[in-house]
Amino acid sequence: MNKKKILITGASSGIGLTCAIYLTFKGYKVIGTSRHPEKLNKDILKNRYLEMLTKYKIKNRKSSNETLIKRKIKISKEIFDDLDNLIEMIDFKPLDITDSNSVSQLIPKLMSDGVRIIINNAGNGHFGPIETLSIEHAKEQLDLNYFGQLRVIQNSLPYMKKDGGLIINMASLAGYIPMPFHSHYASSKAALRMLTETLRLELLPFNIKIVSLNPGVINTPFNVNMHTPKAGSGEETYDYKKENSITTLKKLLNALPTPKTSPYYPAARQTWETVVRNMVVGPSPQIVAKKLYKIINSKNPKVHYISSNFIQRFGYFLMRRVTSDKLKIFITRKFYGI
Ligand SMILES: NC(=O)c1ccc[n+]([C@@H]2O[C@H](COP(=O)([O-])OP(=O)(O)OC[C@H]3O[C@@H](n4cnc5c(N)ncnc54)[C@H](OP(=O)(O)O)[C@@H]3O)[C@@H](O)[C@H]2O)c1
Repeated sequence: MNKKKILITGASSGIGLTCAIYLTFKGYKVIGTSRHPEKLNKDILKNRYLEMLTKYKIKNRKSSNETLIKRKIKISKEIFDDLDNLIEMIDFKPLDITDSNSVSQLIPKLMSDGVRIIINNAGNGHFGPIETLSIEHAKEQLDLNYFGQLRVIQNSLPYMKKDGGLIINMASLAGYIPMPFHSHYASSKAALRMLTETLRLELLPFNIKIVSLNPGVINTPFNVNMHTPKAGSGEETYDYKKENSITTLKKLLNALPTPKTSPYYPAARQTWETVVRNMVVGPSPQIVAKKLYKIINSKNPKVHYISSNFIQRFGYFLMRRVTSDKLKIFITRKFYGI
């Protein structure tokens, strides 16, 4: 199996971009994808990357003069010194994983070119009350986060069956622990985890490893890029994509997609604010990139991995192993303030 060529879907931003740069630094030939690679250039990618590696601190949390303090950029000197070059070495290809034609045009071609490691990373999140998010929204979420990844898998397996391979599905801790107002997102990630587990059994006769990597809350533009159904109030809708910046905490907090008129508004607002604040001060995607590198170089990778900071891992442990249902609900409500 060719150990040097890696495909990363959704490499234009967030975890995918950080992993693409890190694995290029580690000597891999990375093919990254975006729905619009023609809109990407070195400066855009560099700014996105450095933004995610910048540490932030929230001062006067939840008070009227709450502010976001920019601290240092946490990056190794070797990567920083060679950053322009590393970014230019990533080979960007167009791919929309919700479009079967787009997937069947690109994946077999890359597989024929010797790619045998796939990071199935592209994805997004939908936010809102289960009662009011339409079935179309639920389908869109599953189409991207589950069927999209499945399309990539189905197009690559015929090639991998010949000489082996490794597929790493980017799932989420949200697929293990219930997050209010993230139901379809969490369900898509739980489904992806189970797909990984069952597929591993079916692929036993072949030399194909399949793994799920489950990050906790990571500092990426995930919430900025989140699919947000129209909020119905000018104050609450803000086009971050235009601005392409997550430095203004207030704007992000106000981008809650649930309208004020909704009976779910108070709890949705608390949940959104908790997630946004945690994400902005959360660990950088570099921890996911390092875990990914470890998995790629493991002889016998496990089926599931978790990637987050200590506090999130401890919370995961507590929620999964120790608590009763009653206590679980109590902790969740306390955590989100709902
Ligand atoms: N950030 C977190 O806290 C976190 C935690 C757990 C899991 N994750 C998972 O990690 C993955 C990456 O998330 P992120 O935080 O890095 O988010 P992000 O910064 O918003 O990146 C999402 C990536 O997915 C691509 N993408 C979106 N729709 C696509 C489509 N239809 N076809 C192909 N590519 C598409 C985007 O590329 P283009 O827009 O250029 O096409 C972009 O590169 C997701 O699967 C997410 O669920 C994130």
